[in-house]
Order: sequence, then structure tokens, then C-alpha cells
Amino acid sequence: MTMASVSDGNAVPVIRTRGLGKVYSPGSEAEVVALRDVDLTVMPGEFIAIMGPSGSGKSTLMNLVGCLDTPSTGQYLCNGVDVATLDAEALAALRRETIGFVFQGFHLLPRMSALDNVAMPLGYARVPPHERRDRARAALEAVGLGARVDHRPNELSGGQQQRVAIARALINHPPVLLADEPTGALDSRTGEEILALFKRLRDEGHTVVLITHDAHVAAHADRICVMRDGELHEASHAELLA
Ligand SMILES: Nc1ncnc2c1ncn2[C@@H]1O[C@H](COP(=O)(O)OP(=O)(O)OP(=O)(O)O)[C@@H](O)[C@H]1O
Ligand SMILES: [Mg+2]
Repeated sequence: MTMASVSDGNAVPVIRTRGLGKVYSPGSEAEVVALRDVDLTVMPGEFIAIMGPSGSGKSTLMNLVGCLDTPSTGQYLCNGVDVATLDAEALAALRRETIGFVFQGFHLLPRMSALDNVAMPLGYARVPPHERRDRARAALEAVGLGARVDHRPNELSGGQQQRVAIARALINHPPVLLADEPTGALDSRTGEEILALFKRLRDEGHTVVLITHDAHVAAHADRICVMRDGELHEASHAELLA
């Protein structure tokens, strides 16, 4: 199976998987084939949506693309680099510098302020405290939360918590943003605001991969893929909204 991509002669795909597969608990009774032979190519600056029903393998694919898990079969090239060839340190650097992750659910630390949640990926050792705070404040301002930096997650609305999670994903200025159901917990109006934010990021040059089960959310993307039983297929806007 081959996925079409935006053709630009020389550009290197930011994400390129070949025959990617994932089997959980192989050989046991609990074995689950979560991904089958997935070929996905995403070019720099694309905004792509991945749709599919619950359990179809969306988060599994996201975790592989985000280098949070390793595939059972196949290959993943991130910016042309085969991630299987990287040692733990190089992989951590790639995750930190290239990929921003917005998790399904918000995954914010409840006892920390919005500012400290956002500053977290900067790493205690690498960036001095005042710079951490300045950058986290700027990231929160960029998502419209400059007035909420000292609030804890439970003092924020769902949409605001989601924006804190997005600010955290962007704090290291990664070129790629992976978002797993970022609007799933939001009302449609707040969801639209988050989508507008993703479009702005795309316009600023980010590559955005958005996972959603909602066809109306997916319709905002430039390109849509559908996951079914671990297989990925390209879909048109028309067939989704028909
Ligand atoms: N750590 C795991 N161990 C075993 N099986 C798993 C694990 N994670 C996911 N699975 C199984 O793999 C399949 C794909 O799961 P995945 O989380 O990728 O689905 P999804 O498309 O993200 O679903 P949802 O829309 O509900 O988030 C499911 O059948 C799930 O039960
Ligand atoms: Mg999921």
C-alpha cells in the first residue's frame, strides 16, 4: 500500500513509515495486532488528520511516530533518519527537538501551575530557571493564556487545559506537532478554537498530525487518512462528509 504525498521534488518527508506494524503481547493469548503494514508519508508543512474508530490503532501509530514506542515490523524515518539506528540519547534528543506531543487527555501535572507544566520539557539542567519561565510565559501567551500562567489545571477550563498541553508541546519549537484527540474532550466551539490554533501553526510552517474520530474535525486538515483495524488508507474530504 502506498500513500500519496504532496510532491515536491527535493523535500525530505518529516515522517515516512514503510510497512510499519505493531503487535502487542506477541505469542500470548492476549496478542493484539494493532498496526498492519502502514506506509505513511508526511511532508514538511502538511496538516494531516488521521481518523478511525476506537481501537483501530491511531494512538499506537502516534506513539511510534512520536518515538515513544518501537515497531514490531517495518521502518520509520524521521526527517530521513531511521530512528532504529539511534541510541537512547539521540532518540531523546530527536523527541525533544523535533516532535511536540499533545496526548489523548491532557496529561498535565495537577499540582503545578500552567507555567510550570509548560516549562517542564525544557529540562532542569539545560535551561536556566529565568529562561524557562520566560519561554513558558511566551508559549502560553501564544495560545492566548497569558493571563492564566499561575493557574493550576483544575482552575482552568477544558479548552484552556488543552491549550496548556499544546503550549507545552511547542515549548522546544519542534517542527512537528502530533496531537491525539486534542478536541475530544471539548465542546464544538472550544474545539474550533483549538483547530484554528493548529491551522495557524501550520501556516507558520509546522507539520501537524491530528488524530480524531470526528469527521468534522478531520475536515479542517489538508489531507485525511483513515485507520481501520490497524490499516491506514487515504480518504477524500468528500467521502468522509458524505
Ligand atoms: N499497551 C497495550 N497492550 C496491549 N494492547 C494494546 C495496548 N495499547 C493498545 N492496545 C490495543 O491495540 C489496539 C489499538 O489501540 P489504540 O490505542 O492504538 O487505538 P485508538 O485507535 O487510539 O483508539 P481510541 O480512539 O479509543 O483512542 C486496541 O485493540 C487496543 O486494545
Ligand atoms: Mg487513542
